[in-house]
Amino acid sequence: MSLSLTPVHDHDADDAAWWRHAVIYQIYPRSFADGDGNGIGDLPGARAKLGYLKDLGVDAVWFSPFFVSPQADAGYDVADYRDIDPLFGTLADFEGLLQDAEQLGLKIIVDLVPNHSSDEHPWFQAALASPPGSPERARYMFRDGHGDGGWEPPNNWESVFGGPAWTRVTEADGTPGQWYLHLFDTKQPDFNWDNAEVHQEFLDILSFWGERGVAGFRVDVAAGLVKKPGLPDYDGTHDQMNADADVQPTANAPMWDQDGVHAIFESWRALLDTYGEPDRILCAEAWVHPPERAALYVRPTEFHQAFNFYFLECPWRAADYRRVITDSLRVCDTVGAPATWVLSNHDVVRHATRLALPVGERRPNGIFATDPQPDLELGLRRARAGTAMMLGLTGSAYVYQGEELGLPEATELPDELREDPVYLRTGKEQAGRDGCRVPLPWAAGEPGLGFGPTGKTWLPQPDSFAPLAADAQDGVEGSTLELYRSLLRLRHERELGLGSLSFVEDYADPDVLAFVNTGRNDAYPTLVVVNFGAEPVALPAGAEVLVASGPLVDEGVPTDTTVWAALSE
Ligand code: NOJ
Repeated sequence: MSLSLTPVHDHDADDAAWWRHAVIYQIYPRSFADGDGNGIGDLPGARAKLGYLKDLGVDAVWFSPFFVSPQADAGYDVADYRDIDPLFGTLADFEGLLQDAEQLGLKIIVDLVPNHSSDEHPWFQAALASPPGSPERARYMFRDGHGDGGWEPPNNWESVFGGPAWTRVTEADGTPGQWYLHLFDTKQPDFNWDNAEVHQEFLDILSFWGERGVAGFRVDVAAGLVKKPGLPDYDGTHDQMNADADVQPTANAPMWDQDGVHAIFESWRALLDTYGEPDRILCAEAWVHPPERAALYVRPTEFHQAFNFYFLECPWRAADYRRVITDSLRVCDTVGAPATWVLSNHDVVRHATRLALPVGERRPNGIFATDPQPDLELGLRRARAGTAMMLGLTGSAYVYQGEELGLPEATELPDELREDPVYLRTGKEQAGRDGCRVPLPWAAGEPGLGFGPTGKTWLPQPDSFAPLAADAQDGVEGSTLELYRSLLRLRHERELGLGSLSFVEDYADPDVLAFVNTGRNDAYPTLVVVNFGAEPVALPAGAEVLVASGPLVDEGVPTDTTVWAALSE
C-alpha cells in the first residue's frame, strides 16, 4: 500500500535510554488510594496498587509531593524535603514501596519543589526571626517596601494564584518590616537562587533521594527559579492559571524563563549523571513560550524531559494538533530530545471534560456547579480519541491517575469543600483545581467507591464515578481501562516510542489527522487516524485495525475517534 507521506521526525536509536520512550503514570498521593482509612490517600495505599499499574502497562510512576508540609498547596509547600508527611506515611513506607516497584520493574520518580518552600520550613522561620540583611534572610527574596512607611510592595507582581505576590512581615521587635516574594501562595516564600546555600541544599536533596534509588525528579516551576535582576514591574498578564487560549503569560515576564535558570539545571544533570545507568532523570514543569524556549530546557546537559503543554492546551482541531506535533518534534529534534506528551495532570481540567468545552475558547482551571455543564459523553469520546492519538506518537508520555478510567472533572463540588488556594485567593471567582483531584473509584459497590477501608474520601466523588470504578471496567471489552491497557501493550510491542513519524497526506478532509509511526527501527509501521470531523472516514485498503478508541462504522473511523492500524507492504 503506498501512502503519500510527509516525514517530520526520524526514529530514535535502537538502544535509546528508557526515558526517551517511557510512559509515566502520575500519582497524586492524597487522591490515589487510602491505606489507613482517614479519607486521604497515602503511600501504603499506593503501594498496594502497584500491581494494577504494572498491569496497566506503564514504565514508571511519578508521585506528586508527599514530603512534610502544612498542605497549604496540597504538598507543593514543603517544610522538610527529606522526610515524608505523616499524612502519607513514613520513610520506611516509601522504601518498601520502592522495593516493591523495583521487583515489578516500575521506576519511581519524585517531585522536587525548588522555587519555594513552605513558610513553616526551618529556613523561613529562621529568616523571620533574623534581621534584614542577615544571611538567614538572604536565602529568600526579602525586600523593603516602597512609599510612606514602606507600605507599598516592592513591585507590582501578582501571585499565580491571585492577589499580590508580596507579603509584609512583622519584625522580631513587633514593627512592620520587610516584604517577601511568593509567586504562589503567601505560605510559599520564593527561594533566592542567587544564594550559594540554596544551590548546595538542593544538590544535597537530589543526592538524598538519589541514594534511596529514585529514578528521577519532576521539577516544579522549573522556569521560575531566577528572577530578572532589579525585579522590575511587569505590565503583562499575571493570570497564568486562567489565561485565554492565545495569551502567553510567561513570554518576556521578569519572573519566568530567565536565562539564568539553565546553569542550575546543568549542575543537577551533572550530579545525576554520576549515578550511571540506568539514567536518573529530570522532567521540567516549565510553562514557557514559544516552543523554542522550551527546547532549551531539554538540551543534552539539562533536563531529560519537559512536559509538552502546547499539546495539552491544543484546541480539538486537526490542523492545530498537526501544527503542535510538528513544532514540538521539530524543536525537540534541534536539541536531540524526545517529545514528552501529556493531556492531563493535577493542575488542569481533566481532558475527559476539557475536550468537551467549546473549542478554542477560554480555558478555565476548574468548573463550578453553576457553570454550563460539559457533555460527559462527548468529552469521554474525545478523551479516548485524544489518548489514542497521544500514545501513537513517538517519544515519552505522561498519564494522570484516573484518566485510564475515563474520569471526568468533578464539576459539581460544593464550594465550601474547595481547598485549592486558587479558589481562595481569587475571592472565589475561579473554581480552582480541586475538581481534577477527587479520590479515585476502585470498587463500584463499596463505600467511597473503594478508595480506602472506611469509605471516607477527602472530597466527595460525583455520581458519574461509580460506573467508571476500576473493578467495573476490569476485563470489560470496550471499557476505557481496557482501551488504555491495549494501547499501552501495543505501543510497547510495536515500540512506537522510538519510531519515525510522518503525516499521511492522502485524506482530502481537513478534519482528519493521520500519521504513520514506524516503531523501533521502522519495524512496525502503524497508521494512526484521528477523525475530528462529523462524517466517518475510510481506512486505506489493506490496513489492519489494531485498536480503536470507539466502535467503527462500516469499517470507517467515525467522529471523534482514533484508530491504529498495521500497515503491510
Ligand atoms: C505547579 C504544581 O503542579 C502546582 O500544583 C503547584 O500549585 C504550583 N506548581 C506551585 O508549586
